[in-house]
Amino acid sequence: MTKETLTITDNRTGRTYELPITDNTIRAMELRQIKVEEDEFGMMSYDPAFKNTASTRSAITFIDGANGVLCYRGYPIQELAANCTFLEVAYLIIDGQLPTQSQLDEYSGFIKRHTLIHENVKRLLNGFQYDAHPMGMLISLVAALSTFYPEAKLVDYPDMRQLQMTRLVAKMPTLAAFAYRHSRGFPYAYPDPELSYTGNFLNMIFRRAEPSYTPDPVLVRALDVLFILHADHEQNCGTNAMRAVGSSRVDPYSATAAAAAALYGPLHGGANEAVLRMLTAIGEVKNIPDYIARVKEGEFRLMGFGHRVYKNYDPRAKIIKEIADQVFEVTGRNPLLDVALELERIALEDEYFIKRKLYPNVDFYSGIIYQAMGLPATMFPVMFAIPRTVGWLSQWAELIVDSEQAIARPRQIYTGSNEREFVSIDQRG
Ligand code: ACO
Repeated sequence: MTKETLTITDNRTGRTYELPITDNTIRAMELRQIKVEEDEFGMMSYDPAFKNTASTRSAITFIDGANGVLCYRGYPIQELAANCTFLEVAYLIIDGQLPTQSQLDEYSGFIKRHTLIHENVKRLLNGFQYDAHPMGMLISLVAALSTFYPEAKLVDYPDMRQLQMTRLVAKMPTLAAFAYRHSRGFPYAYPDPELSYTGNFLNMIFRRAEPSYTPDPVLVRALDVLFILHADHEQNCGTNAMRAVGSSRVDPYSATAAAAAALYGPLHGGANEAVLRMLTAIGEVKNIPDYIARVKEGEFRLMGFGHRVYKNYDPRAKIIKEIADQVFEVTGRNPLLDVALELERIALEDEYFIKRKLYPNVDFYSGIIYQAMGLPATMFPVMFAIPRTVGWLSQWAELIVDSEQAIARPRQIYTGSNEREFVSIDQRG
């Protein structure tokens, strides 16, 4: 029988240590016993950007990057995207079980009850410049919600956690839509409880003077699928921020604002905005070879390509590509699609991309769809943040009850000096 241990020999001392292996992992704290002198701190592992460090045990999302597999709570993303609404998947991710029809009806009812936001939030919004980035506004508004719900600090009470999670999932589309309308100078459109989660979002974004808004069912369905695909992705940068900040036991609104700030970056959820700018800059298919050559020379990256975990085609990108055609039948074809398709074709045949296992990721096509729906590029990270809130909250709830977790506080390797002589300000040259 094989032994589930790892033997390490410290060549500095000749001592040997036997560390237990669980889930193909050793505990970093086990390294601490490895020392040369008895009174020294002990060995640590050094892993900038967590490239090979598991920070948690989690039962929410499974990714097999090598084979392009993604599952939420054990269900393949393809089945969920083909058969569920976004709220059904939100229930699954947060609760761990797919809802029965009556559970889903009850959950939808709770969500609808909480879609309204305090009128003072509108006043906050009015303080932003007319051209403020909607993602910057969204991050601020989510953080501000903590002041409207001070009881959210009671993170140890399951009912309180549940209430805040329902509130935030319900309010994200309203905050996002209001941020959008502020940036366009449109009056705010209030939620319509007759519509589904995604249908209502389209209503709050696109309603003009009509007394009631009827969203196109194809766009409603496409948005459901896009939201499902973005709902969670295990320990990515934003989720890591959610967990790190949540580990201080701060309220979930503040932690979600931190997660959303992480998502805003161009290497993360801001990538779909960057993809669209890139496709627009390329402009025409004939300019692609020149653009690829510049990428290969290291001038810039091909946005929407590559992923820390997927070293194969991102399964979400495949599903998005399929729904793009359905959306374009309603909205008309986005001419940037031709540039994207040709860019993908050339990149997938190019040695540079093949060698580095760089494939299109979820963001490569989502921006083109959102643009065809009529959303500006600045709204793309916002469109990511709405569904990802479900993932952040479920990961946060998992963290709160995980007895192995404590405040997240990594170590460092100090590279400065400890021997500098203090010089008073009048003596400093
Ligand atoms: N274009 C060109 N080259 C790339 C790209 C890219 N998009 N991504 C990685 N590479 C190259 C790197 O230059 C590096 O090459 P080298 O070995 O010759 O130095 C190699 O591939 C490995 O790159 P890393 O940066 O080590 O890969 P990492 O796993 O750390 O990065 C990341 C993943 C950040 C997603 C990266 O691929 C990237 O910057 N992509 C573009 C931005 C993007 O699309 N982000 C969205 C990710 S999906 C999401 O967040 C929802």
